[in-house]
Amino acid sequence: MQKILFATSEVYPLIKTGGLADVTGSLPRALQKQGYDIKIILPAYASVLEKASASGIKKITQLDIDGNPVVIKQTRLPGTKVTVWLVDIPEFSERTGNPYCGPDGNDWIDNHKRFYIFSKATELIALNQANLDWQPDIVHCNDWQTGLVPALLSLHPNHPATVFTIHNLAYRGLFSHQAFAELNLPQAFWHHERLEFYGQMSFIKGGIAFADYVTTVSPSYAREIQKPEFGYGLDGLLRYRSDSLAGILNGIDNDEWNPGTDTHLTHTYNRRTLGNKRKNKQLLQEKMGLEVNSDKPLLGFIGRLVDQKGVDLILSQMNRLLTSNYQLVILGSGFPHYEQTLRNIAEQNPQKVAVHLGYDEALAHQIEAGSDIFLMPSIFEPCGLNQMYSLRYGTLPVVHAVGGLRDTVTEQPLNNIDDQANGFVFHQPDGDELYAAIERAAEAYHQPDIWKKLQINAMSRDYSWEQSAKQYANIYTELLS
Ligand code: ADP
Ligand code: GLC
Repeated sequence: MQKILFATSEVYPLIKTGGLADVTGSLPRALQKQGYDIKIILPAYASVLEKASASGIKKITQLDIDGNPVVIKQTRLPGTKVTVWLVDIPEFSERTGNPYCGPDGNDWIDNHKRFYIFSKATELIALNQANLDWQPDIVHCNDWQTGLVPALLSLHPNHPATVFTIHNLAYRGLFSHQAFAELNLPQAFWHHERLEFYGQMSFIKGGIAFADYVTTVSPSYAREIQKPEFGYGLDGLLRYRSDSLAGILNGIDNDEWNPGTDTHLTHTYNRRTLGNKRKNKQLLQEKMGLEVNSDKPLLGFIGRLVDQKGVDLILSQMNRLLTSNYQLVILGSGFPHYEQTLRNIAEQNPQKVAVHLGYDEALAHQIEAGSDIFLMPSIFEPCGLNQMYSLRYGTLPVVHAVGGLRDTVTEQPLNNIDDQANGFVFHQPDGDELYAAIERAAEAYHQPDIWKKLQINAMSRDYSWEQSAKQYANIYTELLS
């Protein structure tokens, strides 16, 4: 049985700030089903230790990393048979709140050191130098927090093969030269073909430059990041690596996101009982204090309130949306400026716009079920999971044609739809284009037969991990042969 060490800085349900956790919480299970022996390695944040205590935690070994004692603990991913190894240092386990930033919203000033130690622990375990008697064949790393792992492993002959998955190139893990000097890294890494990036150190560059294979989370994003517009200065390196670069579309957790069994819903439903979806709309309108009205198209948005998600495009069309017959429900947290603007709009238009600022897993499910139309006007989107959740819930997405949104949502003229049509797509990151796509969605919404056909198309497609897990397995096989 081949062994995989899967390194990540978040995994659902133990710790989640975004889609990365959804993926790392479900892909390892899909790989386990393909017959791999997989273990996840994760920082032991305070909140993780608290949540994991229900499944039991035990200390399994202790390491010394540059004089820092590092305890490795073992638990299980709740509800699964996947083992999780937790890297416990005070810099993780003695801080509450967000994994990457403090209560003031600023990054923890020692992030370089925290994720360096995490990467060193991963390196030692990968080399079977941690007294765990377990040697992985593959080390699969995710995003900048684990970018040093392939770099560190490259220093050892006969190291396990490394795969690095880019979930979002916008977060490059940039630190100063001073920070580089504080870490025990070889001086040779300070080079523009290695970690150095225009006078700074980039952790993600370690993953991209040194991993045996680089993947990202949709075929379109794999192409986009090789161009300057989406490459964040790393497009040249990515073009250089293009023979070992693949885009594999994320799957979704079909058990967690299933409108037929969703425990967050009072009225579950499926393709054949779509009438129950309307009851979810009514409950959502009541819960959020909106006018209870079944005719007005209810637009949903869930996400981090950051530039990436196209919040500006929605705000630019707010007046038109308010004067037309739409309702809007928004769940998110992020930039204070967006939060304040949205709060004001909701206060002034309580019947039409409801905004919940903060993180709320149950409400996310209820919005997916209760909305008619889901807005995802992202400026860029490596994959995006919410549009797939909304497709599965028969809530038709309006998306900007980028990354994974382009790869999952298809629009066809309403007088000529076949089984592929499942949403509404605009092609320029422009507010007017967004509004026109919303209007096309509303036009379809008011034609019940067409709407139902689109909903059934959306709900019939397979978004599960099976196909994608096989693609990862093919890469592992190629690397090991
Ligand atoms: P990203 O990872 O860029 O944030 P994705 O679409 O891949 O975007 O994944 C976002 C995930 O985070 C989804 O599971 C979504 O439901 C969840 N999410 C984002 N914001 C919130 C929130 N405020 N409350 C609950 N869930 C949220
Ligand atoms: C990132 C991306 C998102 C993707 C997620 C999981 O957070 O922004 O598009 O779905 O990672 O891969």
